[in-house]
Amino acid sequence: MSVRVKLTLSYAGFLMLAGALLMAAVWVFLLAYVPEQAMLNNAEDKDKLGGVFPVRSALLDVFAPRAAAVLAFLLVFGLVGGWILAGRMLAPLTRITDATRMATSGSLSHRIQLPGRGDEFRELADAFDTMLERLEAHVAEQQRFAANASHELRTPLATTQALLDVARSDPHRDIDELVERLRIVNTRAIDLTEALLVLSRADKQAFTREPVDLSLLMEEAAETLLPLAEKRGVTIDTSGDIATASGSPALLLQMTTNLVHNAIVHNLPELGSVWVRTGVRSGSAVLTVENSGEKLSPLLVSTLTEPFQRGTERIHNDHAGVGLGLAIVQRIIHVHDGSLTLTPRADGGLRIAVQLPAPAPHSAK
Ligand SMILES: Nc1ncnc2c1ncn2[C@@H]1O[C@H](COP(=O)(O)OP(=O)(O)OP(=O)(O)O)[C@@H](O)[C@H]1O
Ligand SMILES: [Mg+2]
Repeated sequence: MSVRVKLTLSYAGFLMLAGALLMAAVWVFLLAYVPEQAMLNNAEDKDKLGGVFPVRSALLDVFAPRAAAVLAFLLVFGLVGGWILAGRMLAPLTRITDATRMATSGSLSHRIQLPGRGDEFRELADAFDTMLERLEAHVAEQQRFAANASHELRTPLATTQALLDVARSDPHRDIDELVERLRIVNTRAIDLTEALLVLSRADKQAFTREPVDLSLLMEEAAETLLPLAEKRGVTIDTSGDIATASGSPALLLQMTTNLVHNAIVHNLPELGSVWVRTGVRSGSAVLTVENSGEKLSPLLVSTLTEPFQRGTERIHNDHAGVGLGLAIVQRIIHVHDGSLTLTPRADGGLRIAVQLPAPAPHSAK
């Protein structure tokens, strides 16, 4: 049974009930004033009716059919009126249902845009519109990501193809050099694929949370990357207190490594510095990674966490990254319910602050 029919029946039912009660009240009222029988004075009538006149039953004979007629009218009125009213009340629902159907069939650009006052239907429609908007933005982002990823993955394959074509047509090819270049291109493809895998695996449900000390991760990342830093003439300065966050040690180590790696490779060509700090601020574990480097504009900095964004330095930097490092960092922080802040330093370079929630008191060691 549709809601419209149910509402109509309820309207009509209530109207009937109220009508019946009214009739009963009238009847009781009449009874209080009308005697059961009346003595007759007229001699002729006395003969016919045996001296008394049954007033009440006569009244009932008159009242009952009229009451029935009124109730019948109320029934028809209630059904018709209820049908119309219910239709008007439920009209917004039809619009919402239509929009839902369109969204189900893949059209996310449609909006309900329900006019009128801020009633419950309007709230529902507005919430639905907001959801559609988010969904549309999310789908667009995913599509952009897939397109970028495919493009990035095609690059090493196309490079390989070009290297092979050139080698085939060149009778004096240097096999060793070819192998070496193919190896570099291949490594890059592997790096990219691995980064994409990390990105897609960093899922909220996919890991168990445990207390992780960021200062230990900082030391581990700095130690691992020390050879790279030395090769580039960058000094790493680590210090800080124990900062316990709640999360996956593997993912948080990946995050720390990515940040320190960036701080080393996107630094000054020589005599660069990296400062890594840990601490606790207002109950959260905080990790900051700061590095010297060329001056960055706030506008550029705000785009760096987007996948495949590589800043400006690709031309004069031999580190050809895939541009997913910060996207991975952001994703890891997101699944840990933390926050990431990027600020350009006044003297050049970048300051990155990560804030992660501390473990709940009962799970802390
Ligand atoms: N610490 C930093 N200092 C200055 N610039 C940075 C820093 N970290 C990132 N950037 C800029 O942000 C861009 C994006 O960084 P991201 O880590 O996402 O990619 P990438 O380092 O180029 O490649 P990879 O995916 O291999 O890490 C970098 O190309 C660089 O221009
Ligand atoms: Mg990087």
